[in-house]
Amino acid sequence: MTRSIRPLVAGNWKMNGLKADLAIAADIAKGYDAELKAAVDLALCPPASLLASASDALRGSHIASGGQDCSTQDLGAFTGEISAAMLADAGASFAIVGHSERRTLHGETDAAVKAKAQAALKAALVPIVCVGETKDEREAGRAVAVVTGQLHGSLPEAATAATLVVAYEPVWAIGTGLTPTAADVAEMHAAIRAELGLLLGDEEAAGVRLLYGGSVKPSNAAELMNVTHVDGALVGGASLKAEDFLAIARACA
Ligand code: 13P
Repeated sequence: MTRSIRPLVAGNWKMNGLKADLAIAADIAKGYDAELKAAVDLALCPPASLLASASDALRGSHIASGGQDCSTQDLGAFTGEISAAMLADAGASFAIVGHSERRTLHGETDAAVKAKAQAALKAALVPIVCVGETKDEREAGRAVAVVTGQLHGSLPEAATAATLVVAYEPVWAIGTGLTPTAADVAEMHAAIRAELGLLLGDEEAAGVRLLYGGSVKPSNAAELMNVTHVDGALVGGASLKAEDFLAIARACA
């Protein structure tokens, strides 16, 4: 953790969740007690179909909500897309952009991710910009170069510590049960912080929350969250179980 930074644990439900699963959000809100509130911010990013009702369910809990993606465009003839303003209107305060599943399955380039991050900022949402290398890239010794390159291409203009979150999610660790070693996470997060210094200036870079994501579970959260420059987690599968998500939050507290 970075002592001066309040950690954030965000849950990415991906394409999971029907109305009945709002009970998970309610259980997380119930478990977000005074001790946790004093120590860690929480956010849930349900599918777009549940965003407004999840935001309602979380109202008063101090747990934020977010979208999982947003359009580069403000409005218009873009069937199936959802704008950042629509996410904000549904109660969101965050938007995940550039998740590896979007980059891989939908061919999103760094330039597209940057445009989405800018669209999020324009709608007063905080973008959670995801970066991460593939297994081949890590094995070729290119992990840091790939991730810093993604940062260069994907970060919005004029971001500040208060308006940007970066999530390092190694592609090979997502949904696989595999995680990098603490030393590898430390190396990458230090490299990300240094790169942000070049892009935003050291003062802003020092305050940006850098999340780790990829197979975070209650059993490994304490070790991962203890790494220098890890300021929280972006949690997939384990965010669909209130107890697991709260246990990860406690590991940050
Ligand atoms: P898992 O926690 O299921 O590995 O997913 C991580 C992730 O992709 C969060 O955005």
